[in-house]
Amino acid sequence: MLGEQAVGPGRRDPACGSARNWSGAAEDMMATRAEEIADRLLALIEARGGGWYGLERINEAAHSLQCAALAERHGAPTALIAAALLHDIGHLLDGAAEDDADRGCDDRHEEIGADYLAQWFGPEVTEPVRLHVAAKRYLCATASGYAARLSEASTRSLALQGGPLGTSEIAALERNAGLADAVRLRQWDEDAKVVGMPTPPLDHFRATLVEVLLSPRAGRA
Ligand SMILES: [Fe+2]
Repeated sequence: MLGEQAVGPGRRDPACGSARNWSGAAEDMMATRAEEIADRLLALIEARGGGWYGLERINEAAHSLQCAALAERHGAPTALIAAALLHDIGHLLDGAAEDDADRGCDDRHEEIGADYLAQWFGPEVTEPVRLHVAAKRYLCATASGYAARLSEASTRSLALQGGPLGTSEIAALERNAGLADAVRLRQWDEDAKVVGMPTPPLDHFRATLVEVLLSPRAGRA
């Protein structure tokens, strides 16, 4: 055919090189996008995380950092470290009120945060976030002595969130594949309320967020 060139041994098919170039460019674009999303999330925590964490004696940013640091220290997978860092992001989004518990309201921040994160992350990140309040209610119902481990503020919000789960709610939650990660996150959440606990800076977790965003299973960058 006129204009058609045979591609044989030793001859380079221009289309192959071109495909490789496109695939490299696409990877670069995805990496840049993941970095932008990670920066946006960290900037949100930095800009709005100075407010008190509910009725606790530390602020939201310190609580998030402590939770992520505990996850990292316990060897959690990167998606769960990201979930730990971002689990309360629903408190920081537009319209979130810092004093809902004070006013006797459940802010449903776990749903707001999980839905927000679902723009970019898969269930490995969003479901521990979505379930971290249910996990508290589950642990209070099933783990002897767990309720005594809650801070005063968390005990107060437990009542607003519906109290310990009932038998049918426990059975339903135990069918949820995300429960185990949510329970792990929840326990770090309880321990991440220590005034003055040393943690890495926010930027330490940037590479973790980027890695998760680029992961074919968890990220949707
Ligand atoms: Fe929390």
